[in-house]
This record gives sequence, C-alpha cells and structure tokens, in this order.
Amino acid sequence: MTKKLFIKTYGCQMNVYDSERMAEALGAEGYVTTEVAEEADMVLLNTCHIREKAAEKLYSDLGRLKPLKVERPDLKIGVAGCVAQAEGEEILRRMPLVDLVVGPQSYHRLPAMAKRAEAGEKSVDTDFPEEDKFDHLPDRPKAAVRPTAFLTVQEGCDKFCAFCVVPYTRGAEISRPAERVLAEAQGLVGKGVREITLLGQNVNAYHGAGADGDWSLARLVRELARIDGLDRIRYTTSHPNDMTDDLIAAHGEEPKLMPYLHLPVQSGSDRILKAMARKHRAEDYLRLVEKIRAARPDIVLSGDFIVGFPGETEADFAATLDLIRAVNYGMAYSFKYSARPGTPAAERTPVPTDVADARLQTVQALLTEQQRATQAAMVGREVSVLFEKPGRLQGQMVGKSDYLHAVHAKTDATPGTIARVRITGSAPNSLAGEIA
Ligand code: SAH
Ligand code: SF4
Ligand code: F3S
Repeated sequence: MTKKLFIKTYGCQMNVYDSERMAEALGAEGYVTTEVAEEADMVLLNTCHIREKAAEKLYSDLGRLKPLKVERPDLKIGVAGCVAQAEGEEILRRMPLVDLVVGPQSYHRLPAMAKRAEAGEKSVDTDFPEEDKFDHLPDRPKAAVRPTAFLTVQEGCDKFCAFCVVPYTRGAEISRPAERVLAEAQGLVGKGVREITLLGQNVNAYHGAGADGDWSLARLVRELARIDGLDRIRYTTSHPNDMTDDLIAAHGEEPKLMPYLHLPVQSGSDRILKAMARKHRAEDYLRLVEKIRAARPDIVLSGDFIVGFPGETEADFAATLDLIRAVNYGMAYSFKYSARPGTPAAERTPVPTDVADARLQTVQALLTEQQRATQAAMVGREVSVLFEKPGRLQGQMVGKSDYLHAVHAKTDATPGTIARVRITGSAPNSLAGEIA
C-alpha cells in the first residue's frame, strides 16, 4: 500500500537537496510525494533556523496542522532540518502533535523513525553520527525530474561568524569524497540533467578526497566539466577567504563554469566585520572582486548583507553602502540582524529596531537599483538559456541565462534545451527575449 508524503522546505538550497534525499529515502518505504498536505499520511517540515522569523514559521505551521491531526490521528508529523537540530526534544515538549524530530546529519535514519512513528512511538535523532549519511541513503532514482539539479558536496562550517547558527546546526565542515560527487553527477546527467549546482555552506572550502590526494573545488569543477552532457556548473555559497587563485582561474578558463558568483561579505565596515569575526576586511573583498573580474570580466556578482548588527553606527552603515557602490551587484540579499540563541553576538546590545528597519530599506533600495541596471544592460545582448518549464503565457518557455537571470521566450523548445536568446526587455525579476 502506498502512503503519501508531503514535504515543506524552508531555508537554503541545501535544505531543498536534503528534502529530495529524504523523499527518496521514504520512497523506499512505500511513500510517494504529494503536493496536498490534506491527503498526506506523513507531513515533514524541513526547517531553517537562520533568523528568528524562519524558526517561528515552524510553530505557526504546526499550529495550522493541528485540526488535520485531530481529524486524522493516524497522520504522522515530522520535523527535520536546522530547527530540529537546534531544538531537538524541546519541539516534542512544545508541540505534542509532532511524531519525530530528525537533524540534517542523521536523516538516513528517517525510514526507521517513520516505522516507529507508524507504530505509535515518538523519536528524536539529532546526532552527528560517525557514519556518513550518504553511504546509507538509497541510490538516486532513475527518472528525470528537471534539467537542473543541486548536488551537495560540502556540509557544515568551522568559521563561527558571531551571528550565525550554521556551525551549530550543521556541525563541523566536511567534504564528500570526489569520486562520490562525480558518480552522483554522472547519474544525474544520465537522467537528463544538464546543469548542476554544487552546494555547501562553505562550498569553496571543498577539499574532498580524490584519486590523488585532496581535491579543491576548482579541481572538482574541472573534472565535472569533462562529463559529456553536463553543460553548466555552478556552486554556492562561497566565503571570500576560501576564494583561491585556482578557483578564480577556473572562472576564466572553464566554459562550463557559469559567470555568476554568490560571494557574501555581510558588511562594508572593518569594525563590524571584526565584530562579526569574518576574518577579512572590506579592502580584501574589493581586491578579491577585482581579481575575479580580471579573470571573468562579465561575471555577475551577488552577495548577502546584514544590517543592524550590534554596534553598527551610521558611519559603519555608510561604509556598507560604499562597498555596494564599489562592487555593483547583479543582485543581492539583505537581512536585518536577528539575534540567535547560543551565538556570541546575541549577548550584545542590539541596534534599535526602527534604525535597523530604516537601514534595511536603504540598502534594499540601492541593491534593487543595481539589479535593475544590471538587467537593463542585458537588453540587446545574446545569452544562452537553459529552458526549464512552460512560462505563464501560451507558447512560452522559461529558463535561466548563464548569468542566472530568469528568461522568458516564445519557443516550442522542450525542457532541457539550451538556446541562444536575444534579450528584448527587462522586468523586475526576469528578462524577456526571442530565440536568436
Ligand atoms: N554560508 C553562507 C551563508 C549562510 S546563511 C556564508 O557564509 O556566506 C545565509 C545568509 O543569512 C548569510 O550570508 C547572512 O547574510 C544571513 N544571516 C545569517 N545569520 C543571520 C542572522 N543572525 N541575522 C540576519 N541574517 C543572518
Ligand atoms: Fe555562517 Fe557562513 Fe559564517 Fe559559516 S561562514 S558561520 S555559514 S555566515
Ligand atoms: Fe537555514 Fe540551516 Fe540552511 S539554518 S539557511 S536551513 S543551513
């Protein structure tokens, strides 16, 4: 008998990848995924702990599931991901309707936990186990889903930025062996995947065991590029201090490595960068950007910014705006600082909320303007687009350009087709084009 599984994914792309792997693991136990929570036998919430709002979403969503559980007591509810890791048992205490809690490093044990839940027994597993979960997960299924895929190559973080929960929720930094990554990539390409995004909280710190010693991310990218049928490679997220010369060189030399780089800096003030324990100065970052652009002049850069970090003055904030102007981002994310329990910065005096709110608006306006200008500069240019799915209009397809812009075009191309497209217009979050 098939059972239905509904998964909701919060947070970063690594959670998206983990949700797929969890669905596959439960698939081996007879679960098929559904888009409709109301018809599910199991609801799994794959959570994020990065900011308070993200973590709170879990509890409001659990509250919404209550009537469903009352109506159907057989419904099993699981909490996975970074809130599961951070709060563990506490989730069961606060929310008795939850049947299982599983952390990001132990979800290969999820099928056994699901069985226990079916037998009416609750369980919590937030271990960082000795064994590698990837060795215990089922092989990835054969059927093609999409022409693009995520592939986690590195997990965890040893950097301990003063604001961040990731080192606690994801644990110490580890790299998957290169051979495993190549085999998984080969498998994905065999199913029709043409673009792979390598994932890691610190992906450019990758140092997985290879046939001849440890491989850097640059080496891994170059080897992946030899796979026939794999046309595009991306990676995210990178730390400035791990942006090595060989990786920068790869951007200039490897045509399959796409000209887009997410390189968070968080702040443009050296005082704040120091308080954040980022271990780089604004100047280091600007010089790094110069080097990257020397290797690949047309690269589109993106980043992350935190405003209202404890101690941030008007002058510090102005330095962030200066850095943004100096870099000129194609797009970037900005967040209001959120104090996270257990992190060093949570002990410090916060910036008043209204001040932080105003700064967030200012920085977002600047970033939006830079995004608009970057997109406008694409108009008239020819880019390559990997079409992924039908667009909103009849006869239209949508896909991503090499620069990661969403592009709509009239075409009867099937998903997975790469075509040259001339950009004819720019909307706030996408471009329009015609087949060249
Ligand atoms: N590993 C990545 C980022 C992981 S978290 C890196 O080092 O770049 C994604 C982004 O969330 C961070 O870049 C940061 O901008 C933001 N973030 C992390 N902790 C935060 C906090 N406590 N408050 C606000 N934003 C935060
Ligand atoms: Fe968090 Fe990234 Fe800093 Fe690691 S490097 S602690 S993941 S912000
Ligand atoms: Fe969130 Fe965990 Fe990713 S805290 S951003 S889901 S690593």
